Amino acid sequence: MITHDIEAAAESLRRGDVVAFPTETVYGLGASALDTHAVDKVFALKGRPANNPLIVHVSTIEMAQELVTSWPDHAAVLAEQFWPGPLTLVLPKSDAVPNNVTGGGGTVAIRMPNHPIALELINEFGGPIVGPSANVSGGVSPTAAAHVDGAFTPDILVIEGGACTTGIESTVVRVTEDCAQVLRPGVIGVEDLANVVPVVESDPVSNTAAPLPSPGLLTKHYAPGTPTKFADEVAEDQLGAGAVLLAISPAPAGQKSIQMPTEAGAYAARLYAALREADALNADLILIERPTGIGPIWDAVRDRLRRATAAG
Ligand code: TXA
Ligand code: MG
Repeated sequence: MITHDIEAAAESLRRGDVVAFPTETVYGLGASALDTHAVDKVFALKGRPANNPLIVHVSTIEMAQELVTSWPDHAAVLAEQFWPGPLTLVLPKSDAVPNNVTGGGGTVAIRMPNHPIALELINEFGGPIVGPSANVSGGVSPTAAAHVDGAFTPDILVIEGGACTTGIESTVVRVTEDCAQVLRPGVIGVEDLANVVPVVESDPVSNTAAPLPSPGLLTKHYAPGTPTKFADEVAEDQLGAGAVLLAISPAPAGQKSIQMPTEAGAYAARLYAALREADALNADLILIERPTGIGPIWDAVRDRLRRATAAG
């Protein structure tokens, strides 16, 4: 059920219930991060494997520091530079954090979202809240309240916060005393991070160089129900009659298509809603014109598209 009542939502969190909330990236499935039982409900609702850890959302640096055993200088610099914003920091967890939040692991992922409603909810509740993307595991992340409303059984409260302006999930970065390392690409790119801290290059796709793989980086992810693949060529004879095309260049005449923005940030903000719309057309196939743009946002978009089109 969609609500505008942040106080009522905070009260639900205090009772140990789950509430969906808006952030600038995607909507999150919120519960008290310090309540093991409430966190279990989030895993159950999503159908999420217990070894895939959740991101904890905070509204102050002090709240973040209570969740960790160390707060390296690099974490302080990154938080100062990018919080509130689409950057998640992975750090050694403190005993305050229940083990199910971290999937049994020794690190905790923390983010301060740049959304007034998310921050108000955390403040009103008075503590950190977990927030995986508010979709059933493996599905397309929600970027509007309507994407979440009715998606879970039992039904949950969804705080209305409008369309997400960033549209793809945060950059996840492991932080140590020495350096930072990207575990999941997002709109904040390696170069942005490298401007303020030393960054160890990793291959975020295979995650091969990561000391701790991000368990959520399953290949098949963010995927619509309709088979989805890249279009080899955006020419009329390449596209089946039953296909719908997510087009960047003008779609061939007569082709069923959804026209996507040509600017990276706008494309990212539109992507998940467009995948949902394409899915709802009951096409045989969703074809995606491969973006060729350069820069961190296009890189993050391509990462999500690779996962949406991955077989299996
Ligand atoms: O933008 C976002 O990050 C959104 C909004 C709601 O904040 N949240 C989100 O959560 O995308 P989720 O659960 O869908 O994705 C979290 C990712 C997963 O890939 C998970 O494996 C990884 O972060 N992660 C969480 N804790 C981790 C940890 N301790 N170490 C490594 N990776 C971690
Ligand atoms: Mg997710």
